[in-house]
Amino acid sequence: MKQVWLGTGWKMNHGTRESVSYARELAGYLAQQPPTVQLFILPPFTALAQVAEILRESPVLVGAQNMHEASRGAFTGEISAPILHECGAALVELGHSERREHFGETDYTVNTKVLAALQATLIPLVCVGEPKIEREFGVAADWVRRQVKIALYNVPTVQLEHVILAYEPVWAIGESGTPATPKQVSQMHGVIRGTVAEIYGSELAQELPILYGGSVNHLNAASLLTQPDIDGLFVGRAAWRVTDFIQLIALVERVTVGRVYV
Ligand code: PGA
Repeated sequence: MKQVWLGTGWKMNHGTRESVSYARELAGYLAQQPPTVQLFILPPFTALAQVAEILRESPVLVGAQNMHEASRGAFTGEISAPILHECGAALVELGHSERREHFGETDYTVNTKVLAALQATLIPLVCVGEPKIEREFGVAADWVRRQVKIALYNVPTVQLEHVILAYEPVWAIGESGTPATPKQVSQMHGVIRGTVAEIYGSELAQELPILYGGSVNHLNAASLLTQPDIDGLFVGRAAWRVTDFIQLIALVERVTVGRVYV
């Protein structure tokens, strides 16, 4: 039986007050309804410690949306993996397309950050995904394969079990995004798993959680999760309100109940 994942990144939304009230309501719900899927939330840095504290007794993993690759030093305004770890973060999102587009993140910096995160015992949640133009030219798979290979470069075999990948096609994310179809997602997840299998062997690749993100909502979540190669969903807008997230949790639990992998 393989774990199903469901998480949300809040991007630059929710100050500490809103984050705390979200976390409290979620903790209250989960105390009544222990989740059958692995949940995670990624608040802004400023709310991380408080949210992690509120959810400490819960099975929800709390993480950050970015980090710096150095463990310490003269990097004004940056946050390191050890600082995140001390705050109560269990995971860290790396390489989101908004970081790549607006903040100069590259496959190479993502790789350095993956290694630094693992060093600090954080789970890297690595986002990959092709821009629209690459899909139009028929090279989406090549693009994503490259991203995966560079992100995992030098990650030791024993550490692979601490890595999560998320396929987030750039054209599917945000207000102007069009959700990828279950077939498109399933195909690309196959490409990603195949790429990981080339490096680490198919057994370890099979264990790796590969999530889909990009305009996931209550209407398309079920059809995505009924595809065999999709291990979970990474949600933005549709989970920014705690009531929506709770509804999504219930929905995902319903459609994945008894899901067994061979
Ligand atoms: P969205 O964001 O669900 O609002 O499209 C997804 C993401 O950026 O991870």
